[in-house]
Amino acid sequence: MLTTKSPFAIIQEPLAQFEEAWIGVLTSDIPLVDDMSAHLAMMRGKRFRPAMVYLCGFDALQADPQKRRRLDTCALVVEMIHTATLIHDDIIDHALLRRGVEAVNARWNRKAAVLMGDYLFARSFVMLVRETLPEVVDIMAEVTYALSQGELLQEHYVWSTDIPESEYFRLIEMKTAALIGAACEVGSTVAGDGREERAVMREIGRKLGLIYQVTDDILDIEGSVESLGKAVYADFCQGRATLPLIRA
Ligand code: IPE
Ligand code: IPE
Ligand code: MG
Ligand code: MG
Repeated sequence: MLTTKSPFAIIQEPLAQFEEAWIGVLTSDIPLVDDMSAHLAMMRGKRFRPAMVYLCGFDALQADPQKRRRLDTCALVVEMIHTATLIHDDIIDHALLRRGVEAVNARWNRKAAVLMGDYLFARSFVMLVRETLPEVVDIMAEVTYALSQGELLQEHYVWSTDIPESEYFRLIEMKTAALIGAACEVGSTVAGDGREERAVMREIGRKLGLIYQVTDDILDIEGSVESLGKAVYADFCQGRATLPLIRA
């Protein structure tokens, strides 16, 4: 159905439900996990990746309840994997602030943060296998592999001053664009789109992901702690040559 509403307005309802489900999915009977989960529930991100799942899987929202449940699981899993990478990223960066509140490694310690990141990865794969489609598991397994390669490639280039731009783009492709591309592809897959449509959705997400990371790298220099909810000049201080620094 054609609508004049903004893309995000049409997914207000599933995104509101996502917030409720997010709190539920993080609870555990291990007190330490529960404490960290309560902290994670408080640190709300932009929810860009779940929004892309719902937008690209929009047809599944109106379809049968099973498709809707699968889409909700995909949105949760994509945000859990993203959150796990942020927790690990903050350990590597010795970050103090994330989403406007204390980073997990700062509020607890680095050891607890490593374990919590692993826990989120593990939990998300149990949900994927039990509640989604085999194609979705495949996409998410590939993307988790890409994410870890991206972080390792970043580590390879740390403090290096001669990174070719092509390598920078290869790196951000793996650490950021792949997950946003996957968010779009799994939405489209659950909605029952054909192979070609799914590839188009993934490509849209991938390109948005590249833009997203370049913007984040610019904001590291031009943004403020207040608006970003995280430290600025972090890339510079951690020896990461981002596009603005490579160009400079
Ligand atoms: C942060 O992602 C890491 C990058 C890929 C730039 P977001 O900017 O989407 O972080 P949240 O989820 O809104 O906190
Ligand atoms: C994104 O890159 C990190 C991950 C994909 C985990 P950044 O290192 O730029 O993320 P921020 O700036 O700390 O959010
Ligand atoms: Mg970082
Ligand atoms: Mg950044």
